[in-house]
Amino acid sequence: MSDLVHVSRHPLVLHKLALLRSQTTEPKKFRELVREIAQLLFYEATADLPLAPLTVQTPLEAAPGYEISEQIGLMPILRAGLGMSEAILDILPTLHVWHLGLYRDHETLKPVTYYNKLPPVPDSDLSIVVDPMLATGGSAVAAVDILKQWGTKRIKFLGLIAAPEGVQTLSSAHPDVPIHLAAIDSHLNEKGYIVPGLGDAGDRQFGTG
Ligand code: PRP
Ligand code: URA
Repeated sequence: MSDLVHVSRHPLVLHKLALLRSQTTEPKKFRELVREIAQLLFYEATADLPLAPLTVQTPLEAAPGYEISEQIGLMPILRAGLGMSEAILDILPTLHVWHLGLYRDHETLKPVTYYNKLPPVPDSDLSIVVDPMLATGGSAVAAVDILKQWGTKRIKFLGLIAAPEGVQTLSSAHPDVPIHLAAIDSHLNEKGYIVPGLGDAGDRQFGTG
């Protein structure tokens, strides 16, 4: 596996992932778990962010500190990426969020774009695509293609569960894009679902199953 594929081994992530997978987890709890795991993975995926020094005035005296010196843009793939992006925005409110509407055609499994909220000119140093499921990889590749055509230089992908097929497809199409995940599962079934996976991430968040 490429050095750019990172699968979390953090006990909190693994504990919450098992709860997320369970078929008895209701949408409210499922959304909470998506939020929590997304924040933990974002924490791991941003360990290399550059910092600029600053001075902050405490009630007692001046203290040295740091601020993140890059502008980061987050691209949630609708609709299942929404829960992840809102959680990440809560811990880094200076993020720019660019919604991208993609759905998989049920017959071809190819992504179809229906919404794109990118501003006219790239305005971030680092772009992060977020989507819970990396199945065939078609949606993630399409999102990264769109970001590159737009002019973004540095891109990362943040997902919860991947199939080996999706990791392979994304790494081959975009070998420069680090992939951060909570798990890589066994395989895709004949309908393009990740096995064992968690089912349909959009339906389980929004109660539409
Ligand atoms: C799911 C998921 C990804 C995509 C992954 O979305 O959230 O976007 O499938 O599959 P792929 O790797 O094979 O492209 P879906 O198309 O079900 O849309 P939804 O989020 O609106 O439910
Ligand atoms: N999308 C999902 O929501 N789940 C899968 O297993 C595959 C694609």
